[in-house]
Amino acid sequence: MKVILVNIKELVQVEEEARAWVAGKEMNELKVLHDAFLVINDDQIENFGLMQDFDETAVDGADMMMEIDCTGKIVMPGYCDSHTHLVFATSREQEFVDRINGLSYEEIARRGGGILNSAKRLEQASEDELYLSAMARLDEIKQLGTTAVEIKSGYGLSVKSELKMLRVIQRLKETSPLTIKSTFLGAHAMPVEYKNKRQKYIQLIIQEMLPEISQQGLADYMDVFCDRGFFSVSETAQLLEAAWKYDLQPKIHANELGLTGGVQVGVQYQALSVDHLEHVGEAEIEALLGSKTMPTVLPGAAFFLSLPLSPVRKMMNAGLPIALASDFNPGSSPSGNMNFIQSLACINYKMTPEEAINACTLNSAYAMGIEKSCGSICRGKLANLFITKVLPGYAAIPYFYGSNPVETVIINGEIY
Ligand code: NIG
Ligand code: FE
Repeated sequence: MKVILVNIKELVQVEEEARAWVAGKEMNELKVLHDAFLVINDDQIENFGLMQDFDETAVDGADMMMEIDCTGKIVMPGYCDSHTHLVFATSREQEFVDRINGLSYEEIARRGGGILNSAKRLEQASEDELYLSAMARLDEIKQLGTTAVEIKSGYGLSVKSELKMLRVIQRLKETSPLTIKSTFLGAHAMPVEYKNKRQKYIQLIIQEMLPEISQQGLADYMDVFCDRGFFSVSETAQLLEAAWKYDLQPKIHANELGLTGGVQVGVQYQALSVDHLEHVGEAEIEALLGSKTMPTVLPGAAFFLSLPLSPVRKMMNAGLPIALASDFNPGSSPSGNMNFIQSLACINYKMTPEEAINACTLNSAYAMGIEKSCGSICRGKLANLFITKVLPGYAAIPYFYGSNPVETVIINGEIY
């Protein structure tokens, strides 16, 4: 089956040769074709080009063909959301109200709220309930243009519940059209009963959770919340050392709450990405330069928790790449809307629309290890993309903040 998109007003993020990522000044460059066509063959992008070069006879031979007229519309690669926690049992709007009334995220966590609150709720939820609510969230983000997503465990915090969460993610992988990567985040918070015996919990992760998860093939990556009040740098090193024994590459939470050394330990253990980065100084930039670790910023969490903004301009000026992700979770970013993430990037972080698009597509694809098949309009990559409503140009996507520009989503060549 061939699907042909014709009269595309702007075909955004096209590549002749697939790149791994874009960094520094290059982040401001975005290749766009005006008045373009795109040919999808089964699940792949077969060809694209300018309408003036479109040869109808080249696709005529196909047994089954469908043409979609995209006059006035923009076509973009689907968003790759490389950091979410979208399997959870309940929302936490009471903590939202508590924060309005003056409590901080860290105070709420210290009182046993936050992640521990989510863990209590998750323990009580059945696998089916978790699966169905997460599937509904996947459907929601799909309609917002996300075609690939990374999902973390980390609301289990016991062998039984972490495995339950990871099985839910596994089932989502098998049944959702989205490209999904799974990350084990047993080290998300210290369960109350281990408060005074931290090594016991760390050993539980290393000796019981990791072998079982590895044996069942339930995770692609390993995460640790390396930050003030959560896991220390030396604990993180210990956990990442163990993760590599099971071939799990790290993707870690770092420097959300302070200059804690999280970035450095992530780079030291060849993390695929270090995420959050509200606190970044010269030493962090220095550590990242020349590494293969993708600095990933989560504007939704900084917005929702009123955190300091990550110095993305400074990082890009130093030559670093930036990826953006939603951090969709019930505590610090209860939205998976990547269009809004782009708006926040442009409005709060002063990223240009070109930089924001590179950060939400190609660079975030790298941050979840799928840059060879997703993240750009490139021949041979998966046909994972979206068609917008009629719009004046791609800068209108972040400009119309809060609205959904997406009209049609195509994943693996299937139209949604
Ligand atoms: O990325 N920072 C750690 N973990 C999540 C928040 C999880 C929660 O509050 O439930 C985050 O912000
Ligand atoms: Fe997170």
